[in-house]
Amino acid sequence: MQINPKLIKNQFEKSIDKYNQNAAVQHIMAEKLVNETAKFQTEFKNILELGSGAGLLTKEIAQTFKFEKYFANDLIEKSEKYIKNIIPDTVFYCGNAQKIKPSQKMDLIISNAMFQWFKKINTENYKNMLNKDGILAFSSFSPENFKEIKELTGLSLEYKTIDELTKIFEKDFEILYIEEFIHTLEFSTPLELLAHMKNTGVNSLTTQHWTFKEVKDFCDNYSQKFPKITLTYAPIIFICQKK
Ligand SMILES: C[S@@+](CC[C@H](N)C(=O)[O-])C[C@H]1O[C@@H](n2cnc3c(N)ncnc32)[C@H](O)[C@@H]1O
Repeated sequence: MQINPKLIKNQFEKSIDKYNQNAAVQHIMAEKLVNETAKFQTEFKNILELGSGAGLLTKEIAQTFKFEKYFANDLIEKSEKYIKNIIPDTVFYCGNAQKIKPSQKMDLIISNAMFQWFKKINTENYKNMLNKDGILAFSSFSPENFKEIKELTGLSLEYKTIDELTKIFEKDFEILYIEEFIHTLEFSTPLELLAHMKNTGVNSLTTQHWTFKEVKDFCDNYSQKFPKITLTYAPIIFICQKK
């Protein structure tokens, strides 16, 4: 299943103010992404952050990297305010990350927990936006992600495996670093789990709103199938350099 940007925008617009205090796993991913990228380089002229949201990754970047100019992008206008609170002179591009046309070439393009939404990753696009030896560093999720939800509802994004990502990028990029890990969250009740998904912008994979009965059935089935109310995150960290 793939989700159209309007639906993603709608979900994240509703959750953006609650996102940072609920996105524990995305926070770990942001730290790892920055720490691993910093092992290759810490000073950049131009940095572009894609899908900047409420600035979890931006804070890590501001603490770790030296840079001259910061560019950020998100589908949601409100993201600009969050990012400018952290890096005031950011140039912000509101819109689809796959379509923006920055005014300058970048030395680092970085993105946390957004690439999983792309059906097709246009590598040519990133290649064109980067200077020679520029780095593209992003985190995403592998097919194990939210396996409980998939098992119960059949709904899932078409997450790419590490091998698929490698095949997509290896023609134009040298792969510098790949990491895959599992982080499982546990909740007291299925309703608490649903609230967690809502507050991190991934509550619904369709436009349909659940009826009271659907929510109840989901909760009953969850408790029956998974006596421990777990939610599996399966993040990927992927860092590559323009050849
Ligand atoms: C899971 S949040 C991550 C936010 C931020 N990167 C962080 O580290 O906390 C994903 C963000 O990507 C944005 N997003 C999703 N698809 C996008 C697209 N095609 N273009 C630009 N932004 C997008 C959403 O609006 C949301 O703010």
